[in-house]
Amino acid sequence: MISQLDLAVQELEKGNVVAMPTETVYGLAAAIDNSVGLKKIFSTKQRPFFDPLIVHVCSKAMAQQLTTDWSPLVDFLAEHYWPGPLTVVLPKSSAVDPLITSGLESVGIRMPSHSVALSLIEKLGKPVAAPSANRFGRTSPTTAEHVKSEFPNDDLLILDGGASSIGIESTVLLVKHFADEYELSILREGHISRAELELSLKNKKWIFKFTDTVSKKESPGHMKHHYMPPKPLLLLKDRSLSDQQICEHAQAQIAHLPEQVEGVKILKPQSMHHFVEMHLPEDSALAARELYSSLRKMSESDADFILFRLSSIHFGESWKAIMDRLTKAASLIL
Ligand code: TXA
Ligand code: MG
Repeated sequence: MISQLDLAVQELEKGNVVAMPTETVYGLAAAIDNSVGLKKIFSTKQRPFFDPLIVHVCSKAMAQQLTTDWSPLVDFLAEHYWPGPLTVVLPKSSAVDPLITSGLESVGIRMPSHSVALSLIEKLGKPVAAPSANRFGRTSPTTAEHVKSEFPNDDLLILDGGASSIGIESTVLLVKHFADEYELSILREGHISRAELELSLKNKKWIFKFTDTVSKKESPGHMKHHYMPPKPLLLLKDRSLSDQQICEHAQAQIAHLPEQVEGVKILKPQSMHHFVEMHLPEDSALAARELYSSLRKMSESDADFILFRLSSIHFGESWKAIMDRLTKAASLIL
């Protein structure tokens, strides 16, 4: 009998998309040299073409084919962090279709740490481009069931690899290489923090500096809203408000929100009388693992909106990536 993995390879070769598990979130994959498949990623997700895709590889040799500048520092990062949740953005080679990079001269590359994803890429014999397997702007999937619920009407092959162990997307790191110096910028926070990167690069022979100043052109996928759950999420900073006051403020403010922001639809329920409270573990690694599942589960309740109370621990360094997701997923912050 033909295995699910072989079936998935056939689908990719035919120019179809396949959902694959990774350690961060599930991805919607297409072969990098199949423009029909690549276009299907965008149409399935209803994703605008300006948002570039990450290319997933199963070996360093495969990654080297995708860039014109595999520098010593990048080699170190790949050796140190791959397979794992680090995407490096490098100058692209001609092997990378402009559809993948939204016309940019750079490409995001990572080697996922999941045996199913790695086997799929290895069997296919070439990299796959894969964004998270959710509709544009919505909560990312961390289980096969989540993917199914995102695309209930699509005849989509979903490889089930269990729940993603990390639970939020990879850290995206732009690496600019000058003669004997590197400039590094985190374009998206993730499991691997700037402090961790700095520590691993410390005392190595390369001169590097981190910079936050990145143009919109260099990081086009950065939108105000993203990861939005099916029910509005309210982040509560103001600890002095009673439940009734929270609902009154929410009701008053939601009406003033725009219908959509940068193409992402904002949910505006008629009433905001009743909320369900989301709790996450204090440990940031556990919280990241539960975050998207929890947003989805909370959305199934019959409440009008989801409430998450912020406290000082959420503003600590280890919560940075989760706070980035929560802030973008939120419709309201009080
Ligand atoms: O963990 C992950 O990275 C997951 C799994 C499936 O690997 N993938 C993922 O892809 O999160 P996606 O498409 O949802 O997010 C990719 C983001 C883009 O929105 C953009 O911010 C950034 O990565 N990106 C990709 N290529 C880039 C490039 N060439 N220049 C700048 N940013 C890029
Ligand atoms: Mg995504």
